[in-house]
Amino acid sequence: MSRGLFITKPVAPSGHVDAGEPVEGSLEGEATLKRSLTATQLVMLGIGAVIGAGIFVLSGHAAAEHAGPAIVLSFIVAGFACALAGLCYAEFSAMMPVSGSAYSYSYATLGEFVAWFIGWNLVLEYLFAASTVAVGWSGYLNSLLTTFGMGLPASLAAAPLNVVDGSIVYTGGLINLPAVAIVAALSGLCYVGITQSAFINSIIVAIKVVVITLFVVFAAKYINPDNWVPFIPESQGPGKYGYDGIIRGASVVFFAYIGFDAVSTAAGEAKNPQRDMPIGILGSLVICTIIYIIVSGVLTGLLPYHMLSTPKPVATALEAYPALGWLKLAVEIGAIAGLSSVILVMLMGQPRIFYSMAKDGLLPKFFAKVHPKFQTPYVGTIIVGAFACLLAGFLPIGLLGELVSMGTLLAFATVCVGVLILRSTRPDLPRPFRVPLAVVVCPLGAVACLYLFWKPFSEHWHLMTGWTAIGMLIYFGYGYRNSKLRKAANAA
Ligand code: ALA
Repeated sequence: MSRGLFITKPVAPSGHVDAGEPVEGSLEGEATLKRSLTATQLVMLGIGAVIGAGIFVLSGHAAAEHAGPAIVLSFIVAGFACALAGLCYAEFSAMMPVSGSAYSYSYATLGEFVAWFIGWNLVLEYLFAASTVAVGWSGYLNSLLTTFGMGLPASLAAAPLNVVDGSIVYTGGLINLPAVAIVAALSGLCYVGITQSAFINSIIVAIKVVVITLFVVFAAKYINPDNWVPFIPESQGPGKYGYDGIIRGASVVFFAYIGFDAVSTAAGEAKNPQRDMPIGILGSLVICTIIYIIVSGVLTGLLPYHMLSTPKPVATALEAYPALGWLKLAVEIGAIAGLSSVILVMLMGQPRIFYSMAKDGLLPKFFAKVHPKFQTPYVGTIIVGAFACLLAGFLPIGLLGELVSMGTLLAFATVCVGVLILRSTRPDLPRPFRVPLAVVVCPLGAVACLYLFWKPFSEHWHLMTGWTAIGMLIYFGYGYRNSKLRKAANAA
């Protein structure tokens, strides 16, 4: 049994990949994914997936409740943990340019059972994050529509259920219609093609980066340095200001970094993955970290930190300055654009992970079906889109934001450990990119991610345990019996 459970998938050196040439192939006789993405498009995909609800929605709460002006340090701490994990992702994705991301890397290093567990956690990172961010998108859209007297009735802009103090309550809403609509529209785009999706993503990313730049440039002259004093407010208990508050703030704003690894799910569609995957992953991570540090600094300089705990803190900070009314409108449009691209890249990533799992026999074959014309994993795209619509439209998903971060942190920690394992089991493999000082960077990355994981886990362990139990049922009910690798090993 254990041989089957912890069997590892052999890694073959991938060699150089030319444009249009598949590495993974597909089910026999079917179309393959299309290799068309350039380094710039990969960086854009990363920025598209990263900058969203974390900065536009969560940053104010993290500053007001946990870190004060030192939220800048929280962004640096979370960015540091992500940078270590990002280096490990870069090594793996250049060496194994496949679309399964952390799932595929775990299969090659820690075995099938762990790979399944990580693949299952990636559902939290991608599918659940897409739905969570869609709800934030709906809030920003409705707020903008209300500015023009066109707000939707409350019954069409809220899910029927919510969780209050641990109990499920009826909200009076029928459906969160804008959230369903944006997920359905972007799923349609993912169905049609990676090139089209990447093109639209690049336009949206350009809009949000321009808006963020405008915010920094024009709001900077209104900064009152008194708002930064004291930079680290005196501690008022665990997680509330002081140094502990900085760390708690880091685990909240970690959400803001989720998504740079989504670049690795497009490795099967990159023109020159050996060179461009590290550029895409690390480039987007560096750019986003710089943006976060500057934006959070300006934000806390505009308004005393305790006034920032609103669902749209960047717009709230600007409301205090009537001369900047135009900028507030631009920020709202930028946030809507920013959140759209996060949803788009998450909806692109999830079917590609399912595609890899199905090709290994751990999920039903239809997830590995590739559209003959569009060359996208279309069945998985439809199924993921439908589930994401249901979650976004009807379920109380606010609470699930913490689940998203927990699932992601576990995947990051596993990838860090995996790099070291593969260095010792397969030192011969060509590595176009190598993590510098791996013996230090990899363990440090794993510890940093597990430390940030522990904070939300200690509060929401029952959710995580329930999610894992469902995953185990599916694995033993389907994946364990249909695993191609295990079947082949048992037959030999
Ligand atoms: N990093 C993404 C966001 O902040 C998930 O929305």
